[in-house]
Amino acid sequence: MFEALMIRRADGVVTTRLEQVGPDALPEGDVTVQVSHSSLNYKDALAMTRGAPVVRRFPMVPGIDLAGRVVQSHDPVYQPGDQVIATGWGLGESHWGGLAGMARLPGRWLLPRPGGLSARQAMGIGTAGFTAMLCVMALEDGGLTPASGPIIVNGAGGGVGGMAIMLLAQLGYEVVAVTGRPQLHAYLTSLGAAEILPRDTLSPTGKALETARWAGGIDVVGNDALATMCASVMHGGTVAACGLAGGMNLPLTVAPFILRNVRLQGIDSVMCPRPRRMAAWARLARDLDPTRLDSMLHDAPLADAIGIAPRILAGHIRGRTVITVA
Ligand SMILES: NC(=O)c1ccc[n+]([C@@H]2O[C@H](COP(=O)([O-])OP(=O)(O)OC[C@H]3O[C@@H](n4cnc5c(N)ncnc54)[C@H](OP(=O)(O)O)[C@@H]3O)[C@@H](O)[C@H]2O)c1
Repeated sequence: MFEALMIRRADGVVTTRLEQVGPDALPEGDVTVQVSHSSLNYKDALAMTRGAPVVRRFPMVPGIDLAGRVVQSHDPVYQPGDQVIATGWGLGESHWGGLAGMARLPGRWLLPRPGGLSARQAMGIGTAGFTAMLCVMALEDGGLTPASGPIIVNGAGGGVGGMAIMLLAQLGYEVVAVTGRPQLHAYLTSLGAAEILPRDTLSPTGKALETARWAGGIDVVGNDALATMCASVMHGGTVAACGLAGGMNLPLTVAPFILRNVRLQGIDSVMCPRPRRMAAWARLARDLDPTRLDSMLHDAPLADAIGIAPRILAGHIRGRTVITVA
């Protein structure tokens, strides 16, 4: 038996509880992993508190990230004892995820744990850091370099935003952080932000184009914030959009695209193809400063995850929450 967070729905009511589960209940898959660490992401918090729209079948073990040790494998690539990680692919949405002592999943979803990273560090990075890296790669694909000018990052106090600041700063970019929490000033400076601006910096003014201030941007908020970011980047700039913490809408005109040659690149970490995944994780393992990474992390046992989830949705958690499973 092992402990698992379990999301159930009965009579339209969604509940999440810690349960004891037997290995026979595990879903199909060719590799069984003893999970040592997972993490709590915005998506996990949505799944655990509301179910919809994240959870696509019940009962569901949440957890879009996992790290652990292979205990059984029918995939020739993996042997018992191998240290592995997995993020996305529907974990915690349509396939039981990482917030449990054991997981069973297709071997093609796994990656060997990147060299030099502990399981705790890998989950500290997790989907948030992986997504931040994909956003940075999108800016690079758009032709941006540190010489292009400052990069704006919103949701700076959260997981993706903080990771993006850290990565960009280490690559030599001038990073402008946007946060709704002025009390995080010292923390964001320690991650590498050169300037910290309030959330209303990205409030709409009604103009199709704003003063061009940034070479590029990383947006985790969506809605007005993403629209204003697109309208405020310089000619030839790129914006990477990955989140919806502020809503699903995009109240935008075509002006930034046809008058400033702005590129808006969507980012999906869930179904990211394996070669790009491996490239992103290799860069994360190589480039992230372990001391700065550690300053973003706080640890919690599996049983505490249920209480932390609403605080993530309320925007009260700073950085990344690593869940120690075993
Ligand atoms: N596309 C993908 O593959 C992918 C992958 C990972 C995450 N995401 C999405 O990216 C977003 C951020 O994820 P995360 O894990 O970083 O979440 P998180 O740790 O909870 O951080 C979200 C941050 O957004 C800001 N925020 C929250 N509500 C806001 C609002 N109403 N208006 C403006 N800012 C708000 C807050 O930062 P401040 O307090 O500093 O302002 C908060 O800390 C989520 O929407 C998540 O679903 C997408």
